[in-house]
Amino acid sequence: MKRYGKYIKPYWPSFILAPVLMLTEVLGDVLLPKFMSMIVNYGVANRDMGYVTGMGVIMVLTACVMALGGIGGAYFSSKASICFTSDLRDDLFARVQEFSFKNIDQYSTGSLVTRLTNDVQQVQNVTMMGLRMMFRSPGMLIGALIMAFSINGKLALVILVVIPLLALSIGIILKTAFPRFTVMQKKIDRINSGIQEALTNVRVIKSFVRGDYEEEKFKEMNQDLKDSSLNAMKVVMATMPVMTLAMNVTTLAVVWYGGNMIIGGSMQVGDLTAFTTYIVQILMSLMMLSMVFLQCSRALASVKRINEVMDTEIDLTDADAARKDLEVSRGRVEFQDVSFSYSQDSEEKVLEHISFSVEPGQILGIIGATGSGKTTLVQLIPRLYDVTEGRVLVDGVDVRDYSLRNLRNGVGMVLQKNVLFSGTIEENLRWGDEEASEEELRAAAESAQADGFVRSFTDGYDTDLGQGGVNVSGGQKQRLCIARALLKKPKILILDDSTSAVDTATEARIRECFRTALKDTTKIIIAQRIGSVEEADRILVLDEGKIIGMGSHEELLAGCPAYQEIYYSQRDRERKEGVS
Ligand SMILES: Nc1ncnc2c1ncn2[C@@H]1O[C@H](COP(=O)(O)OP(=O)(O)OP(=O)(O)O)[C@@H](O)[C@H]1O
Ligand SMILES: [Mg+2]
Repeated sequence: MKRYGKYIKPYWPSFILAPVLMLTEVLGDVLLPKFMSMIVNYGVANRDMGYVTGMGVIMVLTACVMALGGIGGAYFSSKASICFTSDLRDDLFARVQEFSFKNIDQYSTGSLVTRLTNDVQQVQNVTMMGLRMMFRSPGMLIGALIMAFSINGKLALVILVVIPLLALSIGIILKTAFPRFTVMQKKIDRINSGIQEALTNVRVIKSFVRGDYEEEKFKEMNQDLKDSSLNAMKVVMATMPVMTLAMNVTTLAVVWYGGNMIIGGSMQVGDLTAFTTYIVQILMSLMMLSMVFLQCSRALASVKRINEVMDTEIDLTDADAARKDLEVSRGRVEFQDVSFSYSQDSEEKVLEHISFSVEPGQILGIIGATGSGKTTLVQLIPRLYDVTEGRVLVDGVDVRDYSLRNLRNGVGMVLQKNVLFSGTIEENLRWGDEEASEEELRAAAESAQADGFVRSFTDGYDTDLGQGGVNVSGGQKQRLCIARALLKKPKILILDDSTSAVDTATEARIRECFRTALKDTTKIIIAQRIGSVEEADRILVLDEGKIIGMGSHEELLAGCPAYQEIYYSQRDRERKEGVS
């Protein structure tokens, strides 16, 4: 609750005005039937037109005040709830941005989307409703009860029988509703994740002709959601008929008893009309209260899910960094006996006892079978994950001692699963450096061998990229991603299989540029082709998370069987392809 106080604070006048203004409606609700009965009992009975007109004017004025109060209440409750949840959504988004890679692994994207949209919306709905009903329903209940008892105490006893019965049934309904809403929210999560995955990968689905399968999968998820929604709504819907039944039975009872009293002469006609109205109001306010509770139970499920995101402990921060002002200046990288596993409790290590170093300006090649831990290894340098054991040093300082901003600014990384964003090519490249001059932009693109094809587009650097860069080829996309990283002018440049879709001749030109234009930058290159790392100062051969060979191409070729095997099999294949 304390957390939400922070969001309410800026809008406190609205949060107070909304329920207070709604009290005018209560006043009207309570007074109007009383005025009505006075007109019937005195004005009509005595044929006093003056009295009737006078009371009539008072009633109209009361109704006007009531309407104004109602409008004000609606306005301020909307304002309060919309503004407050908008801030909440901002903070949730910011929170997710702070998440480490490990934190992100915990949630599916769909679940995060649901939490930021649907769940926040639930909170907004309940706040709006709550503010309007907070005073109004209890106010109406109490006011109508007082008026009913003041008119005829004996007749009012009927209500005392109905209320406990109603309260019991509402209690039962609420208890059944909450777990069903929780289930429903989970199903919404699932369907959002499903939609997300299917839409982003629609091309893969089509090429594998898996459309039918996906449709079937979706249908099943949708059916699931439908069932759980119906399941929850059934309960909600049950409230209405129960309430209406109670209302009708009570009204009938009142009219029957009241009619007898009028015939017996102990009650006036006007009083009975007013009395029935109050009875209806009492039951209505109970109904509204139960609706508020029902919405609350639904929102509570959402609040829990929102809190989960807010309470997720960010396991990778630079709060304890000892050298926050330090920037990466030379680019020396050293691993000291590093071990790593993705989950704390798992015994299985993805990396085991890795030790090596790279001097500033050198090229380090990394080669190894798929799944051997190459990506995992380089992700430790910009602290996308933290080591489980050992230390990673950059310029002799533990990476955990840098501020994340300075560390990551010093390390340019082209991720294996790279994406471009919607926007122009230039906008995408400027992610590397917003202030880069036109010349710097060109130079980076030229080094990455991207300048040529970009210029061949009619709009050149202003060409719009579709979402994720759909309108450039795989190799072009890789080159743009390299250019983007180069523009950052990092001290350490990491390429994770970033030229796999580029032809060998172009790749050779990129390597040549690295040698000349990036003399002082430390380059770490992960590759599948030996040709990509042949000229490296040092090559690491990884296998199942362990280093099984380290040295220059010649050294490895002479002494590392695994390396020899990769080299000869690739050479043979190239020869065969060359012949055919
Ligand atoms: N986010 C993750 N959570 C849990 N396990 C992971 C995660 N990412 C990778 N792994 C596991 O870690 C191991 C090493 O993966 P890694 O991505 O480092 O391999 P790689 O050498 O880069 O392979 P490739 O050549 O195919 O890119 C694999 O067994 C993989 O299943
Ligand atoms: Mg990889």
